[in-house]
Amino acid sequence: MGFDLVLFGGTGDLAWRKLMPALFQAFRHGTLPEGGRILCVGRDDLSDDQYRALIQGRFEKVELSKRPSPEEFSRFAALLHYLRMDLSQPADYERLATALNTRGAETVVMYLATAPSLFTTVCEQIAAVGLNGPQTRVVLEKPLGHDLASNQAINATLRKVLREEQVFRIDHYLGKPSVQNLLALRFGNALFEPLWRRETIANIQITIAEELGVESRGAFYDQTGALRDMVQNHALQLLCAIGMEPPINASAHAIRDEKLKVLQSLKPWTPETLSQHVVRGQYLAGASQGQPVPAYQQEKGVAAGSQTETFVALRTEICNWRWAGVPFYIRTGKRLAGRDARIVVNFRPVPHPIFRSPLSEANRLVINLQPKDGLELHLLAQGATQQQAEPSLAPVHLNLDFDQRFGAKRVGAYERLLLDVIAGRLNLFVRSDEQEQAWRWVEPILQHWRNDLSGPRGYAAGSWGPSAASAMIARDGFCWSEEV
Ligand code: BG6
Repeated sequence: MGFDLVLFGGTGDLAWRKLMPALFQAFRHGTLPEGGRILCVGRDDLSDDQYRALIQGRFEKVELSKRPSPEEFSRFAALLHYLRMDLSQPADYERLATALNTRGAETVVMYLATAPSLFTTVCEQIAAVGLNGPQTRVVLEKPLGHDLASNQAINATLRKVLREEQVFRIDHYLGKPSVQNLLALRFGNALFEPLWRRETIANIQITIAEELGVESRGAFYDQTGALRDMVQNHALQLLCAIGMEPPINASAHAIRDEKLKVLQSLKPWTPETLSQHVVRGQYLAGASQGQPVPAYQQEKGVAAGSQTETFVALRTEICNWRWAGVPFYIRTGKRLAGRDARIVVNFRPVPHPIFRSPLSEANRLVINLQPKDGLELHLLAQGATQQQAEPSLAPVHLNLDFDQRFGAKRVGAYERLLLDVIAGRLNLFVRSDEQEQAWRWVEPILQHWRNDLSGPRGYAAGSWGPSAASAMIARDGFCWSEEV
């Protein structure tokens, strides 16, 4: 009967900020399968009703349009149950097993919204009480390790107790409608594919800019940094989606095989590229939305004199027939000039110009991921009629706004991913070999930084990062898209 969703970390930040609102949206949209139960696990001693009251209170902080009415909440709350557990106590897993076995749901989802240090213990313990059968799916949030060795160690433990098909590694970027749309753009349309190659594309830029600083996560972030927090996972997943070969079908295996090949084809680092093609930065005091904001080093939880990077820009290549020699630039950072995630595909100029056109203009496809979601295709056109011997062109662009087109029907990232886990769809989750390969590729950068005492370059909060990031791309004769 139905599903059981066990939410470890049921009283934690992720549960109430992301997971409960997402589950409620699925419930409201009627997409949460019937006959489900959400069993929230935490250390506090709470009854079901006390837990429901806690969640109801938390919903008051959710944006108005996503907040349940009292009537909706009481129907949703009927799905919520609470189980007190100390995750280090084997006996508590026996109680969990009893609670699950009594009901005998067809699908059991174990969502580990806990500290990553508990992942292996919880997986071993659920196996010890026989809860790792084929009906079980385990969802793991990042960070899965802090380098290749720790990631491999977690995966090795998981492999002892679960099959790969039972493990759902979340990268919430893959749940964003705009990111899924990237695959639809490439493989649902015939138009772009013949152009998607080195002969026509000059460079590709992936930007994930955040306006916020580290907020309340200073202590965690200071141990992590932008490379581990954003590049190893989200940015490389975007790179895979933009650079992969067409998969043979839309199955999880086929898609993940192609993504893995991209990661395996990334240009290996050399001492020269590590110093020339990677820029790290750390924000200084500055302004955000017109308000003064402190430097990273003044943030709560950040160690004095910290060398942790809050910005990374890098240049790489995908070494295969399609992309050889085409630079792929990745850039991400906190406290930048705006919240803007986008991929810009810069096409080569025409081979033999017969018109005069603005110097920097060639065709450009901008894939806006957030906050806007859509496509802009920049072209050149003959503007006002001119009586000139050599006519000149003016830039124009086509603008597709997916928010406007699909609006309210769009499903949020966590809602989508939770429904996929319940349905057993692995397409939007990361396989262990992909994740290990991504770690393998970033590892030389981490190593290089450990030995490079010059540390990150300062940049003013509210800017686009250190000027060295612009210099890096300028050496190839290009510039970042907002500088065009
Ligand atoms: C998370 C990072 O994975 O992604 C955060 O840990 C970051 O530091 C967040 O802020 C960005 O996600 P989004 O969906 O807001 O772009």
